Amino acid sequence: MPNRRGFLAAILLSCALGATAVAADDGLEALKAQYKRPMRVPFPEGAPYSPQMATLGKMLFFDPRLSGMQHMSCASCHNPSFGFEVPVPGAIGAANTPLPRKAPTILNAAWLPVLFWDGRAPNLETQAQGPITAAVEMNGKFPEIVGRLKAIPEYKAWFGTLFPGTGVTQDTLLTAIATYERTVVAGWAPFDRWIDGDAAAISPAAQRGFDLFTGKAGCAACHAGWNFTDNQFHDIGIPTKDIGRAAFDPDDPLAKYAFKTPGLRNLTYRAPFGHAGQFADLDAILTFYEGGGIDRPSKSPLISPLSLSRAEHADLIAFLRALTADKTETALPNLPN
Ligand code: HEC
Ligand code: HEC
Repeated sequence: MPNRRGFLAAILLSCALGATAVAADDGLEALKAQYKRPMRVPFPEGAPYSPQMATLGKMLFFDPRLSGMQHMSCASCHNPSFGFEVPVPGAIGAANTPLPRKAPTILNAAWLPVLFWDGRAPNLETQAQGPITAAVEMNGKFPEIVGRLKAIPEYKAWFGTLFPGTGVTQDTLLTAIATYERTVVAGWAPFDRWIDGDAAAISPAAQRGFDLFTGKAGCAACHAGWNFTDNQFHDIGIPTKDIGRAAFDPDDPLAKYAFKTPGLRNLTYRAPFGHAGQFADLDAILTFYEGGGIDRPSKSPLISPLSLSRAEHADLIAFLRALTADKTETALPNLPN
């Protein structure tokens, strides 16, 4: 040992540094713990998971025979390649005109307590009824659809096995679709590996972006937790004629122009953004937040102009990109005949 005193000093110094590093890390570790992914999908008691039920639901989700003209399926507007959305501001339905609202993703829908931009559906089963019968979406009629599926021997067998004594009905087909949807979970993103302890999983820029997101930029006040939503409704000041949540909650002055906070997983595949797809890309929506939106009585007190340097703007975008999982293949089901 050439220099014993130097060696001891080095040990003492590293202990001292270690101690402060641990103190600083504690805060960060506690914050990171709030973003840890759940290990289980919550299936409701009345609709437990089984691989067979999810498989049937997947077939129905991709089957155009659930629409009036047999030309459009759920996947027409919730396409796996685009993060279970479509890359247009308004999806085009059976009326052949763009819908006024953007199709949101079905990723992680199992965790959403209410569905639709205005939260008008209480669960996935109820939600799925809407697009099937809406004239501007799939324009189907349940008695016709049920009759059509019953006449397909493979479907008849699937339903007969999974719903003994009941078979194909409006309710059973909605149950199956909802069960499939609950299995559509965003894959592990670089961010998740970072949360799990791989310090190099996201870039230093993205780590600074996380600081901004949870700190100065105030984003985490609404985009909270591992799925980046508080599941509440807010008016963030986007110019729009759509009154959003107020249609169902007319007495709450903050419900006007308020929409459900969207989760922020797999954004890279899901542009454009906003309830009517008003923002072409992440740069556009972040620039909107920097401006603070238009002032009106319903605007959330959590939204005000935000002063970011160009470097901070870039860091926040790097962080948002780190929430996207690698693309995985979604195999198309072979539909029954
Ligand atoms: C023509 C396009 C279109 C078709 C077809 C369609 N959707 Fe949608 N979907 C939308 C739009 C647009 C919205 C948002 C409407 C709103 O919030 O008012 C939506 C909302 C949803 C939501 C709510 C997500 C959330 O975050 O609240 C789910 C779940 C969903 N659709 C599932 C389905 C299922 C299941 C089917 C097939 C039975 C289907 N969709 C068919 C366009 C479509
Ligand atoms: C007051 C709550 C609130 C705060 C704070 C907030 N957001 Fe949002 N965010 C929302 C709501 C609500 C929407 C949907 C609004 C709409 O379309 O009308 C949204 C939409 C988005 C979208 C589009 C997602 C999609 O699927 O279309 C992104 C990206 C986003 N916010 C990122 C951020 C970032 C980054 C910050 C911080 C600078 C932030 N948000 C701060 C509530 C909030």
